[in-house]
Amino acid sequence: MEESPVQSVSEPSGAVAEPVVAPGSNNAAAELDVIRQRVAGCTRCAELASTRTQTVFGTGNPQARLVMLGEAPGADEDRQGEPFVGRAGQLLTKILEACTLQREDVYILNILKCRPPGNRNPLPDEAANCREYLDAQLAIIQPEYICCMGAVAARNLLEVDTSIGKMRGKFYRYNDIKVLCTYHPAYLLRNPSAKRQVWEDMQFLMAEMGIELPEK
Ligand code: URA
Repeated sequence: MEESPVQSVSEPSGAVAEPVVAPGSNNAAAELDVIRQRVAGCTRCAELASTRTQTVFGTGNPQARLVMLGEAPGADEDRQGEPFVGRAGQLLTKILEACTLQREDVYILNILKCRPPGNRNPLPDEAANCREYLDAQLAIIQPEYICCMGAVAARNLLEVDTSIGKMRGKFYRYNDIKVLCTYHPAYLLRNPSAKRQVWEDMQFLMAEMGIELPEK
């Protein structure tokens, strides 16, 4: 893992040396916790706030180089309070492992922090209400890369209306972050033949990140 970017400045004798905390430093975990608490009490979407068991903020390395962005919590995530812990999540864990990554190496989050009832797609107003939280998370983590999993993540983040199939295979930019789009793990559970394409996307992403993959 990278060295901590927390730096100290030496002061003339007598002065108290204040640590200079670089953005994206160890403070990131504490800063994320502040946002996490705001999210936990959020009632912006009346329906979601009244039907959720709990909010699902995100998990992983607060200083991750790579953020994995999904759509919204499902039933398992709503129960456990952690993103991607159901069947799709188990597949995501395997995809990451194939890339020599553990869940703890990346940061995993969603467009929405609440489960839409019946797992319906997020409504535009809900995504807009939650956007401030997503942007705050990204501003704290300062990832170099975002991998959008599925059309809902890709279209909402990048504010486009393109199909996920057309968005694959090239990098987009969100602020200073390079964004790659691929299929959602839940789609792979229904369409296992698309795993090959996701593997190609992940190889492309790992090559760009300078992460060497073992020969298969
Ligand atoms: N699907 C998502 O998009 N996010 C989750 O957290 C779980 C399933």
